[in-house]
Amino acid sequence: MHCFWKTMILLVFTSVAIHYTAFRTLPSSPFNLYQFSSFQNYSLWGQEKAPPQEPEPAGGAGDDPYLSNVTRKTHILILAATRTGSSFFSQLLNQHQEVFFLFEPIYHVHSAALLKSDSHMIRDTRQQLLRSLYNCDLYALENHIVPRPANHMTRRLFRRGMSRALCHRPVCEAFGPTDFDVYEWDCVNKCGPLNMTLAKDACQESPHVVIKTVRVRHIEEVRGLVEDPQLNVKVIQLVRDARGVISSRMETFTQSYNPWHVWKKTGQKPDNFNLHTIKDVCNDSYSSVLTALAKPHWLKGKYMLVRYEDLARNPLQKTKEIYDFLGLPMDKSVRDWISANTQVRNVLQTRVKFGTSRNSTANAESWRLRLGYDMVEYMQTVCGKPLLQLGYKTVNSMEQLRNMSLSLVEDMTFEPFL
Ligand SMILES: *[C@@H]1O[C@H](CO)[C@@H](O)[C@H](O)[C@H]1NC(C)=O
Ligand SMILES: *[C@@H]1O[C@H](CO)[C@@H](O)[C@H](O)[C@H]1NC(C)=O
Ligand SMILES: *[C@@H]1O[C@H](CO)[C@@H](O)[C@H](O)[C@H]1NC(C)=O
Ligand SMILES: *[C@@H]1O[C@H](CO)[C@@H](O)[C@H](O)[C@H]1NC(C)=O
Ligand SMILES: *[C@@H]1O[C@H](CO)[C@@H](O)[C@H](O)[C@H]1NC(C)=O
Repeated sequence: MHCFWKTMILLVFTSVAIHYTAFRTLPSSPFNLYQFSSFQNYSLWGQEKAPPQEPEPAGGAGDDPYLSNVTRKTHILILAATRTGSSFFSQLLNQHQEVFFLFEPIYHVHSAALLKSDSHMIRDTRQQLLRSLYNCDLYALENHIVPRPANHMTRRLFRRGMSRALCHRPVCEAFGPTDFDVYEWDCVNKCGPLNMTLAKDACQESPHVVIKTVRVRHIEEVRGLVEDPQLNVKVIQLVRDARGVISSRMETFTQSYNPWHVWKKTGQKPDNFNLHTIKDVCNDSYSSVLTALAKPHWLKGKYMLVRYEDLARNPLQKTKEIYDFLGLPMDKSVRDWISANTQVRNVLQTRVKFGTSRNSTANAESWRLRLGYDMVEYMQTVCGKPLLQLGYKTVNSMEQLRNMSLSLVEDMTFEPFL
């Protein structure tokens, strides 16, 4: 409850001008964020103290009686890095009435081994879990939830309130189809424990299953899923200017980004400056994106890259393109959600949780007013090549950095790989 109010207060103060950060504003970290910056720790709902757990093999899909029918479904995977706007992006699919959405289920794949090394075993476990979830075998998730659910009931599903399907009938009686865009904490408070059986049934009824994760390090990791003929996987990868990502992470994960804050305050790069933070953005996540952009045959027809800045610039148009790629009609709920959450008017009223202003282009580049030029210059040196390839322009002076009438986002079209 304590954390809840802290979150509420922070929300009020921070939500208008910034992109969605609401639930990530309480950094406290048992994990070393320098090494595992995508393994953030969420303080909300007291789930952060879940002890490392040895993963058991996730339930196989081999004997799933629904397997014969799953090829009719679309299995959508949203891959992103932390602070690239993935929560906002997720909502563009989550709001669709025919989508069963899971927000970051791989959070539950905790283990001491995972924190020490990104071993093949853990990667296999993640992929296995994703496969089970696409087959709507939600019980497979129970192996990873702490404490283990009894009678298929749990309060511990990570960020359950981010999923429309898990907060509405028939899974939760508190909200029906006319309850548009239920707040995350309303869902958690009013829906009570989650009946995994009901969730499983709802998943089976849904034509499309969407999973969002920041915990798949490299797209190669999910090649097995993409190539699985029994699934119909489509991958959407979300990318953002590394300079914006770092700036946003500095605000969200104050503690672990302390050296950056010291740098900003003193104007001098601290001696103990740790490269891990930047490596995660510039090498690991960009490496995944650049691999996909090289069009490996196994991604043919199944991959689309989305730049966060393009989405911010023109949410409706970009969302249409995404739905076209997926081969789904965009429904009214999605359109309504976009108009409710991308206009200043409404942000000031009730829709604070995904505050993107109508001037979202300026908003997506607001990091330019927050970072010192030396920091930006440093990032440009370390990330130069991928920044260029993704159409992010570098600056040569403080004047260019702060001159907002000069966009640093090049017009670039990333066609889906068809
Ligand atoms: C598979 O689809 C068919 C035709 O839509 C339906 O009759 C059948 O009940 C489905 N099977 C399962 C296990 O859902
Ligand atoms: C969960 O839902 C299933 C399916 O409706 C039901 O049979 C079961 O009794 C429910 N479990 C609990 C503990 O209410
Ligand atoms: C990160 O990427 C850059 C440019 O591609 C490369 O020069 C550098 O060696 C990489 N660093 C690490 C630690 O992998
Ligand atoms: C966007 O920002 C500019 C300058 O900050 C302002 O002049 C303009 O009115 C804003 N547009 C909207 C739609 O708010
Ligand atoms: C900002 O950039 C614009 C477009 O390049 C330029 O016309 C203008 O003079 C610049 N403003 C300043 C203050 O440098």
